[in-house]
Amino acid sequence: MSRQYDEHHRSVMVHEALLYLLGGRVDGTYVDCTAGEGGHMKAILEATNGRARIIGLDVDREVLDIAEQNLEDYRGSYELFNLSYVDFEIVLKQAGIDKVDGFLLDVGLSTFQLKSKGRGFSYELDEPLDMRMNLSLKTTAAEVVNGYKESELARIVFEYGDEKRFARKIARSIVSRRPLYTTKDLHDAVKAAIPPAERYKRKRHFATRTFQAIRIEVNQELENIDSTLKRIPGFLKQGGRIVIISFHSLEDGIAKRVFREKSNSELKILTKKPLRPSEEEVELNLRARSARLRAAERI
Ligand SMILES: C[S@@+](CC[C@H](N)C(=O)[O-])C[C@H]1O[C@@H](n2cnc3c(N)ncnc32)[C@H](O)[C@@H]1O
Repeated sequence: MSRQYDEHHRSVMVHEALLYLLGGRVDGTYVDCTAGEGGHMKAILEATNGRARIIGLDVDREVLDIAEQNLEDYRGSYELFNLSYVDFEIVLKQAGIDKVDGFLLDVGLSTFQLKSKGRGFSYELDEPLDMRMNLSLKTTAAEVVNGYKESELARIVFEYGDEKRFARKIARSIVSRRPLYTTKDLHDAVKAAIPPAERYKRKRHFATRTFQAIRIEVNQELENIDSTLKRIPGFLKQGGRIVIISFHSLEDGIAKRVFREKSNSELKILTKKPLRPSEEEVELNLRARSARLRAAERI
């Protein structure tokens, strides 16, 4: 199904990402592991007057179609691949590239994915429980909520959703309502587990955390970040940079740990603490509020 949504993605922490990724370079070869709608790619191409070469990867075919349109002015300076960043080595090999000047990861979902119809990412729409960013993945959200043990669901909601107080109740509510077919079924299961006073006290919708947790599990997002970050330094030129923007403390924790493990041997950490978006940016783009950026340089 072709998805449609007219709210476009606003790229997060663009200024900071470019500052660290380019490190003063005015050209070079870069890999955007999460090309999305091409916002960061376009900013890199603008900042380098089209002299950079960028390999963009994304698991979502339809998002890449939008990137193609957004990057029209820079044809010839970039290539887009509908592949997971986990497979970046395959793409570099195919493109005949040994080492690059920088890798960018801006993990998570784009606004297009969250708001567009068809994949069941949002509690605002009533759709089948899918949540796969990549349709070749085997496990859907329906299989997670209907097939996992209650204790496993509780762990996922607790850890990946940061849903500290209600994770067990939410898991119990999901299990008692099986089978769940749609995002509305999941929304209602969460609603039944969280008392009204708590539900309406929250800044974000009460189902946000559970939906995020199930999505992270379906797409194996934490494992992917971990395994990819560990392999990236081997493909960076000396002085080449990695920049990662994440939206979840567990993702940021992985970046912090991998950078630390590789510091002294392969990487120099450029951000002792993660950078946060400016107040002005958060005011303009609410999605930016939980963003954290870390950067490191190949030694
Ligand atoms: C936050 S958006 C990126 C937005 C982009 N930086 C921009 O400025 O337009 C994250 C993107 O990562 C993609 N993504 C998630 N997991 C991925 C993976 N394993 N490999 C490649 N892309 C992935 C999603 O499909 C989504 O388009």
